[in-house]
Parts: sequence; C-alpha cells; structure tokens
Amino acid sequence: MRASVYIETLGCQMNVADSERAATRLRAAGYDLTDRAETADVVLFNTCSVRARAAQKVFTRIIEVRRAHTGGRQPLLGLMGCVAQLEGASLFDKEPALGLVAGTRATDRLPALIESALGGEARTLDLGERAEGDAWDVSLTERHSPFVAFVPIIEGCNKFCSYCIVPFSRGRERSRSAEEIVREVQGLRAEGYREVQLIGQNVNSYRPKTEDGLKDFRGATPFSRLLRAVAATGLERIKFTTSFPRDFHTDIVAALDEHENLCDWVHLPVQSGSNRVLKAMRRGYKVADYLKRVEAIRNARRRLALTSDVIVGFPGETAEEFEETLSLVEQCQYDGLYIFKYSERQGTPAAALADDVSVEEKKTRFLALERQQRANQTRIYENYVGREVKVLVEGESAKSEQDMTGHSTCQKVVNFPCDADLRGRVVNVRITQAKTNSLYGEMTGEAAHVS
Ligand code: SAH
Ligand code: SF4
Ligand code: F3S
Repeated sequence: MRASVYIETLGCQMNVADSERAATRLRAAGYDLTDRAETADVVLFNTCSVRARAAQKVFTRIIEVRRAHTGGRQPLLGLMGCVAQLEGASLFDKEPALGLVAGTRATDRLPALIESALGGEARTLDLGERAEGDAWDVSLTERHSPFVAFVPIIEGCNKFCSYCIVPFSRGRERSRSAEEIVREVQGLRAEGYREVQLIGQNVNSYRPKTEDGLKDFRGATPFSRLLRAVAATGLERIKFTTSFPRDFHTDIVAALDEHENLCDWVHLPVQSGSNRVLKAMRRGYKVADYLKRVEAIRNARRRLALTSDVIVGFPGETAEEFEETLSLVEQCQYDGLYIFKYSERQGTPAAALADDVSVEEKKTRFLALERQQRANQTRIYENYVGREVKVLVEGESAKSEQDMTGHSTCQKVVNFPCDADLRGRVVNVRITQAKTNSLYGEMTGEAAHVS
C-alpha cells in the first residue's frame, strides 16, 4: 500500500509555496497526500522560526497530532522549513519522536528522505543546498487555492537585518529565471487562475543569472523588468511581496502606472521610525529615504494601498524613539500594519544586545501603536464607502451564510452577499460599510477583464 503523507504549513507564503512543491514531488514519487493527520503514515510540519512564539508552535502541534493519531502505529514525524534548517540534528534530542529533519532547500529530496526513514534509518537528516537541476514546478492539484497562486521569484536573503533569522534559515539569495516565471504565470492563466503573488523575502533584489525572458522589457532594475514581463502575460491580477525599502526603485511605481493588472498594493515594511534604531537594525536606510519611496507611491496614477511591518521594543529602543515610530506611522497612513514585539533570535547580531525593553513595556508600545493604527485605518477604510472595488470571490464568509468573501486588488478583505457559484470570478463591489479589518458591500456586477 502507498504511504500517505500529511503536510502542515506554519509560517510565511514561502513555506506555503515550498509545501506545494514538496507535495508535488511526493505525489510524483508515488505517495498519497492526505489532509488527515490522524491516519497519515507520515506527518510533516513545515516550520517557521521568525519569532520565538512561531518557532515554539510546532512542538505543541506535535503533541496534539500524536495524541489524536488513531492508526495502530505512530506516524513517521518530520520537520522541514526554517526550524529544521536552524536546529538540525539537535531536534532529534529535543523531540525523540522525530524521525526526519529536512532543511529549507531539501524539498526536492523529500521522497528519498522519507523512503530512507520509513525503511528504518533513524534520524534522517538533510540540511543541504538545492541541487543545480532542482525544478520549481508545482502541480495544480497541490496549490493552496484554485484561483490565487504563489509564485516564488527569489529565495533566501542577503540583508542580514540585525534582528532577523531568515538569512540563516533560508541562505543566500537565489533568483529564478524570468523565462521560467513567465512560463509558469502563462500556464496558471491558461488554467483559470485569476491572481498570482510573486513572492520572496525581498523581491526588489531579484537578479537572475541571465537576461532570458527579460530582453523585451525595459526597466530600471531586473525586478521592474520582470513586473512588466509578467504583466504582459495578461493574467488578471498580479501582486508581489515583500518589498525592501532600500531596493524599492521608483520605476516599480512607473510599472504599476503602466499596467492595470499590476495591482494597487505595496507592502513596504519600515520596522522603525527612528534613525538610530534603523541603524542598529542594519536596515540600510533612514526615515527620510523611506519617506521618499512613500511619496513616489502616493504620487502614482491610481491610489496605491500601502502596508507595513513594525517591530516594537528593539534592544535599546527608548520611549522617545518609539514616539518617532508613532509619528512615522501617522505620517504614512498605512492601509494595514503588522506590529511585532521584538523577539530575540539566537545567532543574530541583535542577540548580542541586551533585550532591555521589558515585556510590559513592549506590550504597552504594541497597544499604543495598534490603537493609533486602528484610528488611521478606520478613516482610510471609511473612505472606501460609496466606492467600487474589484474583488476575487474566494469563498464563503466565516461570519454569515449568505455572504462570500475575497480580496480586492488593493488587498482588503471584502465581504458581500453573493451566490456561491461566482467563486473564482472577479466582481465589482460597492462598499457600504467599513469594519475594523474588512469592508462590507454589495455586488454591482461582474468586472471586465483587465490586462
Ligand atoms: N523579508 C521581509 C519579511 C521578514 S519576516 C522583510 O524584510 O520585510 C516578517 C516580519 O517579521 C518582518 O518584517 C519583521 O517586522 C518581523 N520580524 C522579523 N524578525 C523579528 C524578530 N526577531 N522579532 C520581532 N519581529 C521580527
Ligand atoms: Fe529578515 Fe531583513 Fe531579510 Fe527581511 S530583509 S528577511 S527582515 S534580514
Ligand atoms: Fe518564518 Fe522562515 Fe518564512 S522563519 S517567516 S517560515 S522565511
């Protein structure tokens, strides 16, 4: 009988994309994929290590899954992703039930690794690099959604922000060939996908080895050329994340101005509003540089939604420096903001600094920033009332049986009464109410295709 594999993804979109790729390879090798952990022969967790709490999560899940397992034997338990890469063999001591640890670049070797582990090899471990010939293809059946696809364009990170574990867990930047990316997007379009999200820790530093696929497209950076190349496929909605401020060339805004299918949303994490803290974070830009990018975004032909990430309580952050973050956030008027309390990560340069902002103070700053963002966001959301947005109908709303939910081109969650048959279509919705983190409205009709 074929062994069944259950994969659970924790962490960011890159992990979602990598789980899709793992599932593709495993099915091709003859494994069954299942969404029932209780009866699976193999249980894999794709882990995240970005903050202490995220890294801890998998250990709770292991206990839960082991408890719920109904098969006669316990499954082969494996970790992949960032915790696996960072903690390697030591995980076998920490969690004796583990049989397999596969790092962030071992995805394509998973079928062989599982085979060894099932064949009796204890403590199967692979922390190696991707092989030259590793493919990026993902089969449609393994995609997380039938309408929205994540397309990795660059893996890894070379920035080494002082607090961040990602350069250690994901390794150095590797860009995928533009030709291959464009071909994948064309394929997705042909299969009826309405939206692709080009993903990477830092999409702006996209730098493929060759010009293949970019030759016909101009642009100030390889990334803005790629945006134009992907836009030319005619796929309806193209989003990209995450943008790194220093590498965010204003030509990206020009590309968005030229192509309506490049969506009206930019995620540009600022992290702090204090120049001293930004320097200690090794972000490589000052507040003024960041504001110049924001100005270019604000001067776009369409209104572009802008979202950001902020860390509160970085080592040594004073009350005044936090005030500077508050005032920067006030100035930027973000459509959305992810706020994180600083979490010390072993092995990062910032871990050498005293984590000296107390837990209570971090919480106070978190709540103060959240309160301010909420007030701004309410105003921004209320501005949508009476306007129309284009929404991809993704599924049923959790709150009401009559309502469907989806995202607008500007990445807002929008709920509205609508027939479930329209799932997968792009519709116009007139906004009637602003909620805390979503908009509510009524459908006015199906939207014309843009490209
Ligand atoms: N590559 C992206 C995202 C990195 S992880 C970027 O550079 O923006 C997503 C977010 O997690 C970061 O933007 C940051 O705000 C937060 N983060 C990363 N490391 C953290 C840490 N050690 N403590 C708290 N938040 C952290
Ligand atoms: Fe981490 Fe900085 Fe790289 Fe983002 S750019 S993944 S915050 S090191
Ligand atoms: Fe987490 Fe790794 Fe992504 S640490 S945020 S899963 S890159």
